[in-house]
Amino acid sequence: MRALFMNATTKRDLLSLKNLSRADMEQIFALTRALKRKQKRGISHRLLAGKTLAMIFEKPSLRTRVTFEVGMVQLGGHAVFLGPSEIQIGVRETSADCGRSLSRWVDLIMIRTFSHTTVEELAANASVPVINGLTDLFHPCQVLADCYTLLEHKKSLDGLKIAFICDGNNMAHTWIQAAEKYALSFAIACPRQYEPRTDIAREAAKGGAEIFVTQEVQEAVRDADVIYTDVWTSMGQENERDTRLRAFQRYQVNEELLAVARKTAVVMHCLPAHRGEEITAEVLESPQSIVFDQAENRLHLQKALMVWLLKASKGSRAKTVKASRQ
Ligand code: CP
Ligand code: NVA
Repeated sequence: MRALFMNATTKRDLLSLKNLSRADMEQIFALTRALKRKQKRGISHRLLAGKTLAMIFEKPSLRTRVTFEVGMVQLGGHAVFLGPSEIQIGVRETSADCGRSLSRWVDLIMIRTFSHTTVEELAANASVPVINGLTDLFHPCQVLADCYTLLEHKKSLDGLKIAFICDGNNMAHTWIQAAEKYALSFAIACPRQYEPRTDIAREAAKGGAEIFVTQEVQEAVRDADVIYTDVWTSMGQENERDTRLRAFQRYQVNEELLAVARKTAVVMHCLPAHRGEEITAEVLESPQSIVFDQAENRLHLQKALMVWLLKASKGSRAKTVKASRQ
């Protein structure tokens, strides 16, 4: 007799959009549409009855926390919130041990943390699907919900021009990966020292995305279908706030800039927003702004994502089986 480890080789995670093919994304969007319709019509859809999601938060959140927890409740499951003082990854125990322990009790793990490596280590050691709820490098749940929101507003993603007015942060990196999946044109305007990582941009460009980096906001926004912005100072960069406030003064989404884009352009923001900094109150509240549609769709998209990941990972839970020697 020998022990065979059926390790979680077919387990599906969402650490970045690299984990999904375009076909996967389309399945998730179709499921999102179906679940959103059911939720709006009050039709029960307890697809995850008896399942549990662990939610690890090492950074603050409104949308991610509420949408994952409410989503799990609507699907008939349960969510366990683990805040910054609870697990203390890297202090109280390793990311690997955390993943191994949680896998013995829960069906899914969602984590929001600083270093992307923490999430990679957790996922490599967990036998259940791991979802990245934001790291310093990527925010895939937000961009999936944004793509779905754009499908609702624009019918198709192919060939859209996205102007991103902010630094090369986690949102920018994730949009760059999305641009590869849908052959989008992605133009980012930011000061030179705040550009996105060249390795991420180069890889997406190799895969067919058009990536433009400029210091000129008007150049990025010309003929854009989407103007996207995000806070100038991301979570974890608070000690750079004064420098960033000065560096980004020219990089505000305001009415003057909006006039340069297509008349049909929509304005997007992952939120939270800082009115008067990266975006004016007028633009955020304008009819072209779809920011609260984005926020709503986090709920529907993540419900679909959780159902899809569990289905795609079926039978992959790490287990030891006995097999006879041939
Ligand atoms: N957009 C987003 O992820 O919001 P929270 O930080 O509130 O979760
Ligand atoms: N770039 C922002 C996104 C917030 C949802 C941050 O990381 O703080």
